[in-house]
Amino acid sequence: MTISKLRSMVQDVTRLVERQGLEEPAVLERAKTLMETLIATDDWLPEAMAQPHPQYYQQHLLYGDPLDRFSLVSFVWGPGQRTPIHDHTVWGVIGMLRGSEVEQHFERDAQGQLQPGRQATLLPGQAACVSPSIGDIHQVSNAYDDRVSISIHLYGGNIGRIQRHVFDPNTGAVKDFVSGYSNTLIPNLWPAGEAAA
Ligand code: FE2
Repeated sequence: MTISKLRSMVQDVTRLVERQGLEEPAVLERAKTLMETLIATDDWLPEAMAQPHPQYYQQHLLYGDPLDRFSLVSFVWGPGQRTPIHDHTVWGVIGMLRGSEVEQHFERDAQGQLQPGRQATLLPGQAACVSPSIGDIHQVSNAYDDRVSISIHLYGGNIGRIQRHVFDPNTGAVKDFVSGYSNTLIPNLWPAGEAAA
């Protein structure tokens, strides 16, 4: 395993969010390309960030920008695990690293009811985007009920600290939520003694 791919991703995204004057579609396009490069190979994710939980899908923070301009998270899906229907309120890029996940989008109609929209199945190496401007409400599930899947998520903010929303699938009722992270310890990406190769 090498930390250099993750390190390059963090450096490239930092440069991207430092650029002035880029509209969101341009940011998303570039962020998606960076994500596709990161997930093109599955040989860099630290083992501690790939651990599932028997009951809950895991959101391991890989890196949080000190100015909260972006965060990079490893989502680890145990067999059959899924999110509630939720939004993000910031742009995001989801890249499939291992296994597969199903992403069901929703739209709210004039009555506030949720209507199912597009559905996508992500395979390793594929990436998808979310944002309030292109569709922000979805539910994500592990495509498998007998194995772990892992996707890498990049968000245009500190996603674990942002107040966002979950939606009742039957009534469309909205509840505030803050996801936090699964880490009990926020990792130092560059531990002493680990070669930067
Ligand atoms: Fe999501």
